[in-house]
Amino acid sequence: MNTTQTELDHTIELYQQHVMTTYGRARVEFERGEGAYLWDSEGRRYLDFLVGIGVNGVGHCHPAVVEAIQKQAARLIHTSNLYYIAQQAEVAEILCRQAGMDKVFLCNSGTEANEAAIKICRKRGRAMRPDKTVLIVAEGSFHGRSYGALSLTAQEKYQTPFAPLVPDVRIVPWNDPQALWDAVDDRACGIFLEPIQGEMGVRPASVEFLQSARQAADEHAALLVFDEIQTGCGRTGDYFAYQGYGVIPDIISIAKAMGGGVPIGACAARGEAAEILQPGDHGTTYGGGPLACSAAAAALRVIENEDLPGNARRMGATFREGLEALRSKFGHLEVRGRGLMLAMVLAKPVAKDVAGLALEDGLIINAIGADVLRFLPPLIITQEHVTEALQKLNCALESVA
Ligand SMILES: Cc1ncc(COP(=O)(O)O)c(C=O)c1O
Repeated sequence: MNTTQTELDHTIELYQQHVMTTYGRARVEFERGEGAYLWDSEGRRYLDFLVGIGVNGVGHCHPAVVEAIQKQAARLIHTSNLYYIAQQAEVAEILCRQAGMDKVFLCNSGTEANEAAIKICRKRGRAMRPDKTVLIVAEGSFHGRSYGALSLTAQEKYQTPFAPLVPDVRIVPWNDPQALWDAVDDRACGIFLEPIQGEMGVRPASVEFLQSARQAADEHAALLVFDEIQTGCGRTGDYFAYQGYGVIPDIISIAKAMGGGVPIGACAARGEAAEILQPGDHGTTYGGGPLACSAAAAALRVIENEDLPGNARRMGATFREGLEALRSKFGHLEVRGRGLMLAMVLAKPVAKDVAGLALEDGLIINAIGADVLRFLPPLIITQEHVTEALQKLNCALESVA
């Protein structure tokens, strides 16, 4: 056993003693990252096609993000939302411009972005009539783990142990425009949908489903909220996935890639929805602070200036083509997703084995459920990265064939 192994064993021992076991963890500790690669504590290199579950869209330690954090950390780390914060204003301007929204509320995570969206829907609804409090969500959704967001996460395994949840949530079947239309009435204050359900195994919404949601929201004076926490900031080949669908929401929740690796989230709204929250309605001590916003402004500028949505579209097309070839070679079922948010549905429940073999071979991918492999590479990848990932995936799939 070498020194680094001993250090990792010590870390694992401390975890066992002192860290709540909310995650099953692979036996790896990453020490360094650059672009599309990570290095572990033994110096082994990994091609990262998961990037912190869709967070490091601009790649690991992008120089512009690192410089912004370093400079800001040396000047001012935190004040509070009782004062103006120039970096927050800059992030808000970029997000509104790219998202086609008017105003944002900045917070610290995707979950918090959804909490703000829920409060906007409920406050607006109750002002119209006291029982206009119903939130419509889709089966298989994932919106976060706090009580509001969890109540919108229509998956039994997440909800059942924590019941009772927030009331007045109606669940509709995924991609069933008629069922959605039928479920919405005048008591609905908000409809929450992911344009592509990420945690459910990368299931894209149909255009008809999102259109039905828009029409139902208009018909019953509800707000349409798209959770773009995983799909946003270029990942699907558009800056926001809704732009590829041509269905415009009233509110978007954003997080993950917007911070370049630093925790930050945003609830962006347009029109009337942007004016609902007033002083005292909602808040956050840390949200929109100078450090996180410096990182986010840098990451968002990189996404714009380097046209990462365009790269996601181009590299997504070639990666998808390669995945299709592997799918048909090994008799797997389906490749789905958009841009660089892709998944392969396997014919056997071996996704965990494939991800484990890939990890041993220096490729990080994600098993989501028993039979789905999810790929969320950084948006800066080149053809060489795609080729390397496909070669390693081929080996892993061969081993379980
Ligand atoms: C679509 C979606 N919504 C919400 C969340 C929760 O975001 P966070 O973990 O930043 O709170 C996630 C996280 O995976 C997500 O994918």
